[in-house]
Amino acid sequence: MTDERIIVGLDIGTTKICTVIGEVAGDGVLDIIGEGTVPSDGLRKGVVVNLERTITSVRQSIQAAQRVAGVEVHSAWVGVAGSHLRALTSHGMAAIRRGMDITRSDVDRCIENAQAVPLEANMEILHVIPQEYVVDGNDGIKDPIGMSGVRLEVDVHLVAGAQGPLANLRRCAEDAGAGVDGLVVQALASGLSVLNRGERDVTTVLIDIGGGTTDVGVFRRGTLAHSAVIPLGGDHVTQDISQLLRIPPDEAERVKKRYGVALPELADRDVVLEVANPSYTASISTFELAQVIRPRVVEILDLVRSNIEQRMGALELLAGNVVVTGGASLMPGLDQVATERFRLPVRIGKPEGVSGLVDVVASPAHATAVGLVRYGMLHGSAPLAAAGRRDGRNGAGLFSGLRRVLKDFF
Ligand SMILES: Nc1ncnc2c1ncn2[C@@H]1O[C@H](COP(=O)(O)OP(=O)(O)OP(=O)(O)O)[C@@H](O)[C@H]1O
Ligand SMILES: [Mg+2]
Repeated sequence: MTDERIIVGLDIGTTKICTVIGEVAGDGVLDIIGEGTVPSDGLRKGVVVNLERTITSVRQSIQAAQRVAGVEVHSAWVGVAGSHLRALTSHGMAAIRRGMDITRSDVDRCIENAQAVPLEANMEILHVIPQEYVVDGNDGIKDPIGMSGVRLEVDVHLVAGAQGPLANLRRCAEDAGAGVDGLVVQALASGLSVLNRGERDVTTVLIDIGGGTTDVGVFRRGTLAHSAVIPLGGDHVTQDISQLLRIPPDEAERVKKRYGVALPELADRDVVLEVANPSYTASISTFELAQVIRPRVVEILDLVRSNIEQRMGALELLAGNVVVTGGASLMPGLDQVATERFRLPVRIGKPEGVSGLVDVVASPAHATAVGLVRYGMLHGSAPLAAAGRRDGRNGAGLFSGLRRVLKDFF
């Protein structure tokens, strides 16, 4: 097996750093052959704030995965989150010469025109994702090459990030010994690993609730059509519990995982938690605990809803279902609260369609890391982000982006 078949995903999260090593088997099946997870304490809301600590943890995570896989990691696909990300959809048009069929260069020109949008000077384009094409007013076309027409149009979903946070993220991977194959928005990666075929055929909302951020992706027929990062996650629930019970965050985290439910009706009314600090004693039932958790979960889900609706209109008209993933989706009752808030079918998603160490990565917390490997599988080794950096151009990746653009769906 050559090294080209080894693909590595590196999820630098707010609460954990996770490396997943995949190997593409001859039949195209993705085998998970290594995994390493270590706690993370150098990020805030998805953004690196302490380089040294993060580099140390990334190195540990890679080493742990290498030990399991028995291979050396040279480079990785790295996930990006944080409020610095900007996502927008823009329209492009290209005229087709009379009597000629639509060619690859017409499509590239159309996509390039769609990228002519004003972005702040310090922004770097990460993804250029064409939606469906329109030829002479006929919409719904996935691949227009070879068709006849005089006017080609496309909507393109663009995702850009601020150069500072992106440079810090690259530095963490590189200083830990892994070159960056590419930076990938976390919602896109998570969607690649958890959405099933049926969900890819329709419009599906993917919500990855992590520790510090909630990553949102709307996938229309398998293509990312909208993305956003909400700077709230499971750690905010932990903070609420810590304040309520006046206990340190690590104890509040234990209480949350052991007794926390998002729906008070699910709480065991007979269980009462006794808090006995030197300065404070209290008792609280798990029902009361759930009454504190629920509003925070509702707040996060309602922010997701309003973010999508601001850009795309009423959710019920837009989407067929919702898939929630990320570590915080493990909280019992979260799916029921989400069903109630979105009025759509909801399921909790975890990575699917892989073999090898299936049980190790079959958790919602692994959605991003496994999805990064899947992304690497689809996109080969052309390093869009790394190329942009070598160019040293602002907002760049524009042309390097074009090369991979047509593969930015699944
Ligand atoms: N069994 C559980 N019940 C409730 N919450 C849980 C459970 N297991 C994990 N969590 C929560 O999930 C969150 C971590 O999720 P995840 O590992 O997906 O985050 P991350 O990727 O490190 O963070 P981010 O994506 O925000 O950068 C934490 O808030 C943690 O408390
Ligand atoms: Mg995450």
